Amino acid sequence: MVDYICQYLMEIRQRRVLPDVQPGFMKSQLPDKAPHEPESWDTIMQDVENIIMPGVVHWQSPHMHAYFPALTSWPSLLGDMLADAINCLGFTWASSPACTELEMCVMDWLCKALGLPDHFLHHHPESRGGGILQSTVSECTLVALLASRKDKILQMKSRSSPTDTHTDAFSDTHTDMDESTLNSTLIAYASDQAHSSVEKAGLISLVKIRFLETDEKFSLRGETLQKAIQEDRRRGLVPVMLCATLGSTGVCSFDCLEELGPICAREGLWLHVDAAYAGSAFLCAELRNFLSGIEYADSFVFNPSKWMMVHFDCTAFWVKDKFKLQQTFSVDPLYLRHDNSGATDFMHWQIPLSRRFRSLKLWFVLRSFGLKNLQAHIRHGIEMAKLFESLVRSDTNFHIPAERHLGLVVFNMTGGNALTQELLRRLTHSGSMFLIPAAVGSKLIIRFTVTSQFTRPEDIHRDWSIIQRMAKEILQPGRWSRPHALSLDSESEAETLWQEQEVETQHEPSMIDKHLVRQNQRRATRSMSCSAELPPSRPDPAHGPKEAPPLGVLAKIPESPEGRRTTQKRLMKFHSVPSLPQVWAQCAIQQFYWPFSKANCFNCFTHSHTHSPGPLPAK
Ligand SMILES: Cc1ncc(COP(=O)(O)O)c(C=O)c1O
Repeated sequence: MVDYICQYLMEIRQRRVLPDVQPGFMKSQLPDKAPHEPESWDTIMQDVENIIMPGVVHWQSPHMHAYFPALTSWPSLLGDMLADAINCLGFTWASSPACTELEMCVMDWLCKALGLPDHFLHHHPESRGGGILQSTVSECTLVALLASRKDKILQMKSRSSPTDTHTDAFSDTHTDMDESTLNSTLIAYASDQAHSSVEKAGLISLVKIRFLETDEKFSLRGETLQKAIQEDRRRGLVPVMLCATLGSTGVCSFDCLEELGPICAREGLWLHVDAAYAGSAFLCAELRNFLSGIEYADSFVFNPSKWMMVHFDCTAFWVKDKFKLQQTFSVDPLYLRHDNSGATDFMHWQIPLSRRFRSLKLWFVLRSFGLKNLQAHIRHGIEMAKLFESLVRSDTNFHIPAERHLGLVVFNMTGGNALTQELLRRLTHSGSMFLIPAAVGSKLIIRFTVTSQFTRPEDIHRDWSIIQRMAKEILQPGRWSRPHALSLDSESEAETLWQEQEVETQHEPSMIDKHLVRQNQRRATRSMSCSAELPPSRPDPAHGPKEAPPLGVLAKIPESPEGRRTTQKRLMKFHSVPSLPQVWAQCAIQQFYWPFSKANCFNCFTHSHTHSPGPLPAK
């Protein structure tokens, strides 16, 4: 198996990044029932190549530019192999002491390596916080929202805490009130660029989520948050949390922590920071400018499983006050009690009981590469993105509608959405690289993320020459009827996006187009997570006559209290084609990486390999 993995990863450039298969392709190739008799290893491995691989998206390929990276590396793979062999479940300290203790140490290492505040450290005299490894950012955002909700409800049920000077409908004591009633008054915030996982956390927790408009750089600013908090307090709602994004999924934009942090502190909001992709970049001190204001964060999350070459799943999550997690998640059945009750039991920090020994692979990666090589890997990815950006900028047929940040370049065709869409369709069908669309306002864009640690300038040039060639074909006179510039701001206009007809061949509306239309329709309802509408706003006491607070606390929240948005620039959404769940379902997210040759084991940019592990199993 290890030989097969080595060969797979060494020869990954030769594989088509995107599979050419249809839903159900596997059913006819596999028996209906599990075999009664054991089968030989060779037979199984042959089916890996013949049945499994044709349906795999090769996420480790240097020509994989969709989503964000999901990298692996040999120390990560081998570290996890050991964890899999040990296979302990570290829910309490006693259930596997090394599992808990290594995780605490490694999370402190990582906290220091990213330049995060000391209040996130386990081992620090003034810290009440610490870090934990979870499966996904989505889970951590939910955990943060549940913890902030619990904390706010406890504050509301007790006398207002001395620090709680906020005036809202629930500033009095609510000892007798039902928690679900108090829950219904809560409201949390995120920017209109925030990941859908924030919306999902709202759906699960029944906390209303309000998505706030960002500025022309797609950044959430303090003034917007402040205004929203004031409006919502007047409506009788209780602001509970802000989820700020550092490195948004669509264009990798950054919310302004420096402005948002002090407002959260003053207004009693839990500040949760989602740096899913960008977090790895903070390993490099020169890339930490967007971290300014991080000292206000109550929790911070990022995926080492994206860019840091620790394979999925591995999500690092820190909290400033671990007791706020524990008061949310603690249960105490007799069978989980142990003699060292003062020790850290991570089961009280998370939703599931059981947990894997994830820190082993992280520990192997940190030690095998050293911070030096991890930093070099990040810098290399950014250099490759800059190279791609310079190529796009040198061609007048293309435009870059949003600033490049880190390893993500977004671009489109100057001729309009339909051309961009057609280009993407052709690229996708070719299978030569994997790119996905998004929209910036009314503009369809293509996201180009540098993912692999093995991406070379030649790979970027190869991909760019394919993109350019396909664009030229589309632009050839007579081969393509250039449609009017399209706006995605109205449903009917968006509808026309996939009704545009190609002169050369007519084709069914692509999944991309359907997604765009659907996303466009969803825009108006995005923050209806709580199936609710805002109650009427109480006038600002300073500016208008006093009115009784609104009666119904089960308030409803439309996306924008100002009504339908008129500006287009902010209406950016991340569209996945095929959708991430579909990709995951088809291919499984766990990916593997290769051992470098020994001499180069600390050099994450090694490309040449002298050792060939032998032929692939016969087809
Ligand atoms: C900004 C952001 N937040 C959250 C997520 C979701 O991450 P996960 O799959 O770990 O839940 C992503 C995924 O790419 C993301 O880009």
